[in-house]
Amino acid sequence: MKVIAFLGSPRKGGNTDLLLKEAVRGIEDSGLSVDVFHLNDMDIRPCQDCGGCDDTGECIEHDDMDGVYEAIRTADRIILASPIFFFALSAQAKIMIDRCQSFWCEKYVLKKPLPKGEFDRRGLLILVGGMKKEVGPQCSESCARAFFRTVSVPEHFTLSFLDINAKAEILKHQTAMQDAYEAGKKLVKD
Ligand SMILES: Cc1cc2nc3c(=O)[nH]c(=O)nc-3n(C[C@H](O)[C@H](O)[C@H](O)COP(=O)(O)O)c2cc1C
Repeated sequence: MKVIAFLGSPRKGGNTDLLLKEAVRGIEDSGLSVDVFHLNDMDIRPCQDCGGCDDTGECIEHDDMDGVYEAIRTADRIILASPIFFFALSAQAKIMIDRCQSFWCEKYVLKKPLPKGEFDRRGLLILVGGMKKEVGPQCSESCARAFFRTVSVPEHFTLSFLDINAKAEILKHQTAMQDAYEAGKKLVKD
């Protein structure tokens, strides 16, 4: 089973990073490895809406998305982890998602969804926000859902934490680390 993860936070050792690491630990304890893409460190240009993928389902821009396309195409499990910025996913996450327009064309225009593979395709969304307002997770959930469905992940579940602001503050949360560990295990179960 191939598992990939996207870290959308720029803050190394921050809340999203710590949660994702715990989810990865749960997966590794299940005997699998995870390819983690640190989006903030990658060279990914925003989608230019050039129409270059309209007829082919392939992006004409070549940068670090080349590796991401291949990873998404062959993954059985996909984790998207992002802090909430301005009631939405981080720009790092959103830039990668927008470049998945080529998968959108492949699936909905060319009618070629990515194959289910041996293990189906499933996703996990991890969110952390500093405010108590639900609107951040709600907006982020809508965008993440569009991403997952576009890359032919028909099912995902979400782990979301609010009111967590300072770097590594998530470590003080009573259940968060255990929740993330269990979420990793659940994602790759059966
Ligand atoms: C640019 C920016 C915008 C933010 N906007 C929101 C927001 O709209 N809603 C929210 O709940 N938290 C917001 N926050 C707070 C972060 O979501 C919070 O600090 C989170 O714990 C950061 O996670 P990290 O440590 O993984 O980077 C914002 C933080 C930054 C830097």
